[in-house]
Amino acid sequence: MTIGIVYYSRTGNTRAAAQLLADKLKQQNLSVDLIEIEAVKRPGFFSAGRAAMKQIELPIKNTDVDLGNYSTLVVGSPTWGGCCSPFIKTFFSSAKNIKGKKTALFITGGGMPDPQGKPRQMMQQDLTNFSVNLSDSFLGLQMKKGKIIKGEQQVDQFVQSIL
Ligand SMILES: Cc1cc2nc3c(=O)[nH]c(=O)nc-3n(C[C@H](O)[C@H](O)[C@H](O)COP(=O)(O)O)c2cc1C
Repeated sequence: MTIGIVYYSRTGNTRAAAQLLADKLKQQNLSVDLIEIEAVKRPGFFSAGRAAMKQIELPIKNTDVDLGNYSTLVVGSPTWGGCCSPFIKTFFSSAKNIKGKKTALFITGGGMPDPQGKPRQMMQQDLTNFSVNLSDSFLGLQMKKGKIIKGEQQVDQFVQSIL
């Protein structure tokens, strides 16, 4: 079984978290692909926050990605202005073969993401609209400069829930 980790990262934290998850899943002898959502233009701080809060879909390079080969998806976003990044919605609106796909979410933030908070709710809503099969498991990580500040103890449990 191959797991696809789909994420957007503007400053590297969510990428570092995705890489950590990939390494841990590979240690369990799973095959993992990292799929970074690539913005056509990297948004500045204010345009990122505005796009997230107003749900403005910013263009991406990797459209129409076929996710049919993956048994499971893990999807990660940074927190922007108390919302998820709009790039997640943009990516999944053109991605292929996602219907019914088992999907777990993770979120990074400058503060500790609330498991019941709006960024997760938004991702759940967006992905449910694209008919993926959302798992109950969730990972929130407080991060700074690519390092986990809080939430590391939950990483192994999250990985186990994906297996
Ligand atoms: C526009 C913008 C808004 C942000 N808003 C929040 C926020 O509301 N809450 C929070 O905890 N962190 C917030 N952050 C911090 C990021 O969520 C955090 O640094 C995240 O790990 C960045 O991920 P990345 O390095 O993968 O882009 C914000 C960052 C940006 C750029």
